[in-house]
Order: sequence, then structure tokens, then C-alpha cells
Amino acid sequence: MRLKDKVAIVTGSGRGIGEGIVLRFAEEGAKLVVNDVNEADANAVVNRVKAAGGQAVAVLGSVAERPVVQQMVDTAVKEFGTLDIIVNNAGITRDSILHKMTDEQWDPVIAVNLKGVYYGIQCAARVMREKGYGKIINISSTSALGNVGQLNYSASKAGVIGMTKTAAKELGAKGVNVNAIAPGMIWTDMMKNMPPETLKQMDMMLPFIVPMNRKGSPQDIANLALFLASDESSFITGQVIFCDGGMKM
Ligand SMILES: NC(=O)c1ccc[n+]([C@@H]2O[C@H](COP(=O)([O-])OP(=O)(O)OC[C@H]3O[C@@H](n4cnc5c(N)ncnc54)[C@H](O)[C@@H]3O)[C@@H](O)[C@H]2O)c1
Repeated sequence: MRLKDKVAIVTGSGRGIGEGIVLRFAEEGAKLVVNDVNEADANAVVNRVKAAGGQAVAVLGSVAERPVVQQMVDTAVKEFGTLDIIVNNAGITRDSILHKMTDEQWDPVIAVNLKGVYYGIQCAARVMREKGYGKIINISSTSALGNVGQLNYSASKAGVIGMTKTAAKELGAKGVNVNAIAPGMIWTDMMKNMPPETLKQMDMMLPFIVPMNRKGSPQDIANLALFLASDESSFITGQVIFCDGGMKM
């Protein structure tokens, strides 16, 4: 087991990529703090882990609120004795072409995707630097490099890369690895909720923009997160690993 008795927080893990990461980490022996704004989804994931013989607990609420993120860290320590891994995964989109974008679309994306990751890194790092060990994994996106209709989202995801590198520089000597994953097109509700016309166009373009000619799955991201959470990646820090079927290279 690659994460035997490690304690991990995965934010936004009631469904999609976060859920995939929780289930993969649990298979490898980790104890999990599951977080989501959706209570039913978070509880369902906790129950799946428990049904498979693992240990998990839910902390409900938004990563955009510092007390919620602090509660995740406190819960990890109280329930499982420590914190080894945090995956800052929660993220949202509010897409619009730039000349039509409103503050109502800008603000929540920055609050969840950028401030939420800041809180996650900071609250977790306070425990990890004390213990001289930790793995921080931040979920960015290929959109960090720019994507039509995602001015707010790409700003937040590029910001995640900047925070990853700064945190890696500050925490490296404390035994804490900080890396980012930049997923490409991953077939979750986030993608499924896109307008049908956009999805149709994406499917037509797929062979031309994704060399591997398929969408990714949460498991594709979970396998990479597992590697970054394990000691197999102990000399890797400050990196952004694209998991996108070759879309950006
Ligand atoms: N799906 C993709 O193609 C894709 C591509 C690149 C990056 N990403 C990133 O991967 C991460 C996960 O995306 P996904 O595809 O699984 O999305 P998703 O929408 O399927 O799942 C996101 C989960 O996060 C939860 N969530 C939303 N706001 C939250 C908040 N404020 N606090 C806590 N939880 C919250 C949602 O309730 C949901 O359960 C996001 O950061 C996203 O930006 C996804």
C-alpha cells in the first residue's frame, strides 16, 4: 500500500476528480477528510470509503471560507492524529467571453479557485512544516495557459501555479513537497454541464487537439495525484504536471 496510514484532505471531493482521488487514496491505505459544499455527495463518498473497509470523515462547507479549511485540518489531526497530504481540488467555472464577463462571474471563481487554494496551502503547511513532512497537491488546469471564455478561471488557475512554486520554495527545506496537476479535458460534471453545442464542437475537434484522442477520467488524475502524494515523488517539487492526453506540450 502506497499511502498506508497517511492522512489526507481532498477538497471538493463529493464528486468528479476529487471523489476519484479519495477512492484511489483510500485503496492505498490513506485515511481521508472529504470536503464538499454538497452534503449528500460528501456523505456518499465517506460511506463508499467505509463500505470498502477504509476510514473517512466529512467536513462540509466552502473552501472560500477560512474557518471551513481550518476545520478540515483540525479534523484530520483530531480524528486521525496528523496531516500528511492535502489535495486542493475544489474549483468552479463561471464562463463568459471577456467583454461580457461580470463581477458576479469573476468574484466567486477567484474566491473558490484562488483564495480557497491559498487557505488550503497555508492551513496545511502550518502542521506540515512543524512535523517536517507533507505533500501539497494543487489542481490547476490547462486553462492556466489561456482559454477562450475563461478569463476568470484561467487567472485563478495560473495563480494556482504561482502559489505552488512559491510554496515549494518556502517549504522545500521543511520536507514538504508542493506540486500542481494541470488536467486537460476530464469527463466530469464540470464538463458535462457545458452547453451541448460547445460539447459537440469539442468532440469534433478532439482528434486534432488531444493527441491521445480521448477525454480523461477522474482515475487518470487520481493516479497522478497518488504518485505525487507518495514517497515515490519525494525529490519532485514546484512542478506543474499536465495530465491532458498531450493537449499541451
Ligand atoms: N473536468 C475538467 O475537465 C477539469 C479540467 C481542468 C481542471 N479541472 C479542475 O479539477 C478540479 C475538480 O473538477 P471536477 O471536474 O471534478 O469538477 P466537478 O464540478 O465535477 O466537481 C467539483 C466538486 O467541488 C465541489 N465544490 C464546488 N465549490 C466548492 C467550494 N467552494 N468548496 C468545496 N467544494 C466545492 C462541488 O460541489 C463538486 O463536488 C477543479 O479545480 C477544476 O477546476 C477540471
